[in-house]
Amino acid sequence: QKDIISIRDFSKEDIEYILDVAEKMEPVARSKKRSNVLSGNILGMLFYEPSTRTRLSFETAMKRLGGSTIGFAEANVSSATKGENLADTAKIISEYADAIVIRHNMEGAARFVADVVDVPVINAGDGAGQHPTQTLLDLYTMKRVLGRTENLHVSLIGDLKYGRTVHSLAYALAMFGVDMSFVSPTELRMPQSIVHDLSKTGVSVEETESIHDVIDKTDVLYVTRIQKERFPDPEEYSKIKGAYMIDLKLLKGTNAIVMHPLPRISEIAPEVDNTAYGRYFEQAFYGVPVRMAILSLLMDKIE
Ligand code: CP
Repeated sequence: QKDIISIRDFSKEDIEYILDVAEKMEPVARSKKRSNVLSGNILGMLFYEPSTRTRLSFETAMKRLGGSTIGFAEANVSSATKGENLADTAKIISEYADAIVIRHNMEGAARFVADVVDVPVINAGDGAGQHPTQTLLDLYTMKRVLGRTENLHVSLIGDLKYGRTVHSLAYALAMFGVDMSFVSPTELRMPQSIVHDLSKTGVSVEETESIHDVIDKTDVLYVTRIQKERFPDPEEYSKIKGAYMIDLKLLKGTNAIVMHPLPRISEIAPEVDNTAYGRYFEQAFYGVPVRMAILSLLMDKIE
């Protein structure tokens, strides 16, 4: 397929294939092997919202494969500040680059861009919509750490309303038959449209406000940040921030691993970082081989 906009555009087999290619890419991602498979290719990066991991892991992936990148990391250094619209910017970059990665605060922005340009478009996060490449690296992390992406119980906790990472991930986990628990304050519940879609897939989904209800059966505790920037009313954010804290007292005696798309604020205690529970830094690294796989597949350059 030409674009990566939503995880729902993929089948389970498509995802498994990408994860297999990513595994083959890992020695190059770790700089243990060299590759020039994307030599001469240019990736256009349109980041209208802040990013550390997604932007820099795409950049690393491109460079590890011998390609290069152009673009901007903040809209205020592009001609958007002069009033240029998204379609015009995207069309211009598509003439300079072989593929486009876009992060934007507007849900649907990546789909909009894919409709106006001819080069492949990758959604690096569209508002509270989707973050499909994060989901691919999340699944890759489960495969690498636990040896499987099936027969798991995954608990998603935190901002399930605005969290694009959990929106994408929940759909993907359902494809793998994974039962899920959604843990959030009532104000930040998973959108009921998603819960409804999942109810038709045959997986078990439960909603609760308390992590204690589900921790004992959890294989993967997927923690998310309460996102201040998505709240229309700052008062509402103040009331909910700090709702959850994952620490060793909670984890002790469980088999759960802790994942997080990052950045974290205070939802995971630093004492978890260097334990067998905490896998979020490893997870962030896996963004490189997974994005290498995505880029080489989209540009039709597999060695
Ligand atoms: N996981 C993730 O999207 O992180 P960044 O916002 O740093 O890209």
